[in-house]
Amino acid sequence: MTTETPPSPAAGSTLPAAPRIFSGIQPSGAPHIGNDLGAIRNYVALQDRYEAIYCIVDYHALTSTHDPEMLRQRTREMSAALLALGLDPERCTLFVQSHRPEVTELAWLFTTVTPVAWLQRTPTYKEKRQNQPEDVNHGLLTYPVLQAADIVLYKASLVPVGKDQAAHLELTREIVRAFNGRYGETFPEPQAVHTEAPVVLGTDGARKMSKSLGNTIEIFAEPETIRRQVMSMVTDTQRILRSDQGRPEVCNVCRLHRFFGDDYEEIWDGERTARTGCVDTKKLLAERIIARYAEPRERYLELMADPTRVERVLAEGAERIRPIARATMDEVHARMGLR
Ligand code: TYM
Repeated sequence: MTTETPPSPAAGSTLPAAPRIFSGIQPSGAPHIGNDLGAIRNYVALQDRYEAIYCIVDYHALTSTHDPEMLRQRTREMSAALLALGLDPERCTLFVQSHRPEVTELAWLFTTVTPVAWLQRTPTYKEKRQNQPEDVNHGLLTYPVLQAADIVLYKASLVPVGKDQAAHLELTREIVRAFNGRYGETFPEPQAVHTEAPVVLGTDGARKMSKSLGNTIEIFAEPETIRRQVMSMVTDTQRILRSDQGRPEVCNVCRLHRFFGDDYEEIWDGERTARTGCVDTKKLLAERIIARYAEPRERYLELMADPTRVERVLAEGAERIRPIARATMDEVHARMGLR
């Protein structure tokens, strides 16, 4: 785990004694290796060290997904995937965002301390406006306000995320400062926690791995699909002939080998000296990814076949954190002059 800067507890408010962890993930079906290497493996590691709360953010997904059955199905898939990858309901809380609707009230209250200009300059908003020009809904603009509310409703101070969430985390801190400045110290300023792979590039080797870009390696796909996705990866574009020496430090396949075995230096050396070709290196990576996720994949399939088990975990999760959400909202109401 690496933290950007140490968490700063806000004085004079009812903060948890030990740092609390919160993170959210969109229900975009089963996760890809970017999600796992960039965030989920930290969710799993941190549940042993802190009070950890993890959320499948279905409200956020509504800014781009409008098919109710697809949203339900993807929420089921992401929940099962997180449990299969090692989230343990005995050691952390896993819940679905819309099951704790206090967050929407807090988000609305936060809009009143958030200048519109902050939201308009958010990179993800600008991207989404380009990607879905026919559907620039208000939720897209206020997306980061809801994200801020997610985190601070539970007064979390550490947020395991990939680097692509940096602007959202910065905005969360700005909103917290604006709120605390106007109404008194209430919330901690949360800090990002990154893994060793804060940005995982997609199979195109150029852009971050992302389902919407279609450049993913899906961890619970059939082995044949994983092989096809890995074999399609762009490698060192300057290595044309098998006899050319490779540059593993710029090759996405080589970079990924760092996370799927402890012999990556040998693999890099093979590329550098042209002892091995890109095809061999890709084949090895595909087999290692398949082997790494074989057991979680079985658990995932078992969980998908037993939806009531997953639903029970999610319902208990939402119930367990109800008192925290209620206490925060009581404090916010009092500070803002409501009720
Ligand atoms: P989402 O669903 O896009 O991604 C979930 C997590 O996976 C990380 N991630 C990556 N890390 C490295 N390389 C990649 N290629 C890669 N792709 C995804 C993301 O950084 C993230 O940690 N806005 C958030 C969801 C959210 C949230 C929150 C996060 C809503 N509320 C509160 C933290 C706290 C999102 O869309 O993540």
